[in-house]
Amino acid sequence: MTQRAKRLDHLPAYPMAEIPAIKRRLLQTGVDLIDLGAGDADFAPPEVAVEALARAARDPAMSRYGFQIGLPAFREAAAAYLRRRFGVTVDPFTELQPLIGSKEGIAHLAAAVLDPGDVAIVPAPGYAVYHGGTVLAGGEPHLAPLTAGTDFLLELDTVPPEVIRRARLVYLNYPNNPTAAVAPREYLERTVAFCRRHDLVIAYDNPYCEITFDGYVAPSILEIPGARDVAVEFHSLSKSFCMTGWRLAWAAGRAELIAALAGIKTFVDTGPFLAVQAAGAAVLARAEELVAPYVARFRERRDAMVPALRGQGFDCATPRATMYLWIPLPEGVPSAGFQRRALEDAGVVTLPGSGFGAGGEGFFRVALTVGTPRLIEAAERLGRVLAAV
Ligand SMILES: Cc1ncc(COP(=O)(O)O)c(C=O)c1O
Repeated sequence: MTQRAKRLDHLPAYPMAEIPAIKRRLLQTGVDLIDLGAGDADFAPPEVAVEALARAARDPAMSRYGFQIGLPAFREAAAAYLRRRFGVTVDPFTELQPLIGSKEGIAHLAAAVLDPGDVAIVPAPGYAVYHGGTVLAGGEPHLAPLTAGTDFLLELDTVPPEVIRRARLVYLNYPNNPTAAVAPREYLERTVAFCRRHDLVIAYDNPYCEITFDGYVAPSILEIPGARDVAVEFHSLSKSFCMTGWRLAWAAGRAELIAALAGIKTFVDTGPFLAVQAAGAAVLARAEELVAPYVARFRERRDAMVPALRGQGFDCATPRATMYLWIPLPEGVPSAGFQRRALEDAGVVTLPGSGFGAGGEGFFRVALTVGTPRLIEAAERLGRVLAAV
């Protein structure tokens, strides 16, 4: 290669990029590794998904290209779920788009919305694809800090007016990765009103809407009056149903935005495997029943790990949603250094807050990916690292 595109120089470091190689090296030397890094829990997917996939895989029609239309039954099951769960009615064919995981759709939406030089407002810390997708589309990311002082809510009225004038897109994600924050309805209402006033598209990333605790029920942004004009919402089977590797998700929202996203995808991919869409339809038909046991087990893990970490001296809050704990480090302890020592000295994979953008400095993230005894072992090991920094 003589020269790579300059835009690649503007991509942020991907938070998990180095971890697989370091993990491999440590495992080869016999380290007893506990991986609390990626949001990828160790639960099996629902049996109904496995059975539906196996059945569909034997049907030769399922081995054909899905194209962007995909499997009508999946579109209909996703629309029925939105109606049942949130009271949101969308047309399954014009206001909904199957995706090869929500990461794919989030990255491609930027290309559908941004012209070169347009600004996208990106939460920092935040899921790296908001920043990366913006850069790859030739857009300009404006990093908006999420801080404990504002309950990790992205407050658009703190973004300078000259940035808002150039902005076309804002990424919102509640329940939030990595902070585990949830968004009050009043926040969503005023944010939708702001976006309507300033002609901003909202990419509302909602993969954790089912992983909620203590009676909290996460909304869809599409429930908020006026949101349907400005928002595209992303849902995924990855986290709710422990199907990360299956790569199945969907976007829902205003028909013009969905058509633009599908138009981009037409030139990039040919849709998720139809047999996986058949499995997704079977799962979504019983979504609420299937998600409940996973949520109960995440809650057990949360209720074991939070006190275990507090006992080790960490100031760990109890999240109302997601599979993450977002834990502050003592003043002056750099998150990358702490993460490196947790990995190299204690064999615990965590993610440094700084990996989610500079705004994440001073925190680290733990994902509740393994069973309680291993979580408690990890808390003890992290406590030893904390005592030594
Ligand atoms: C906030 C957020 N959005 C999207 C995704 C991507 O999920 P999917 O597996 O559907 O691509 C993740 C995965 O970690 C995430 O944390």
